Amino acid sequence: MISLGVNIDHVATVRQARRTDEPDPVWAAVEAELGGADCITFHLREDRRHINDRDARLLKETVAVKLNMEMAAEAEIVDIACKLSPTQCSLVPEKREELTTEGGLDVAGHRARLAETVKRLHGCGIEVSAFIEPLADQIKASAEVGFDAIELWTGGYAHAKGSAEMESALATVREGVRIGNGCGLTVHGGHGLTYRNIGPIAGIEGFCEFNIGHSIVSRSVFVGMREAVRLMKELLARHAPPETLA
Ligand code: PXP
Repeated sequence: MISLGVNIDHVATVRQARRTDEPDPVWAAVEAELGGADCITFHLREDRRHINDRDARLLKETVAVKLNMEMAAEAEIVDIACKLSPTQCSLVPEKREELTTEGGLDVAGHRARLAETVKRLHGCGIEVSAFIEPLADQIKASAEVGFDAIELWTGGYAHAKGSAEMESALATVREGVRIGNGCGLTVHGGHGLTYRNIGPIAGIEGFCEFNIGHSIVSRSVFVGMREAVRLMKELLARHAPPETLA
């Protein structure tokens, strides 16, 4: 069964809109776990625009499932990750002006620096994933640099207009999963996945985990986090390739 990582950043975004103490992303993580989340994902951004250091600390203390910390490969954040010791760190590109992570990390173009970061995190006992576009050179470079996993950017599929564009984006993702598995990498997927578009992506063989944030947090406003996660898990099970259903 494909795992579901729930990204709780946007619970903190609502809290930060008033710079108060609610809603608490740590509570959201508990509710997500009760709904069946296999992983809790948070992004500690350099500008701390949503998740802050207190959240990261409490998530580490309270999350019982896999804890995935998204982060830029920057010294200050790498130091924090090493002290925090989440299950996995996902390295992502980070720009201050962006609304959310846009596109993937250029692993092929920054091999030496990323290899150093991966080595440091491995030394702290942390698995490391690279958030990349589903491109052969980036996938192969991720394996060569020493990443344990890749998270394929699904934005190309999520933003596709019309069925031809969508089919072509799906084929690109499918090929990316095949290459990633062929390189011995664990393959995750994420970005822009919703209750409406998850079906065809969930049907691709070879994925291990999806990280979904905005759509689940949005749904949770109406039905609660526990139910929102349960509904997404139900869709993943319904659309999973047959051999992963055991
Ligand atoms: N995976 C990564 C690496 C991300 O940066 C994000 C966005 O924070 C997500 C998954 C989740 O994307 P979305 O909020 O569009 O579901």
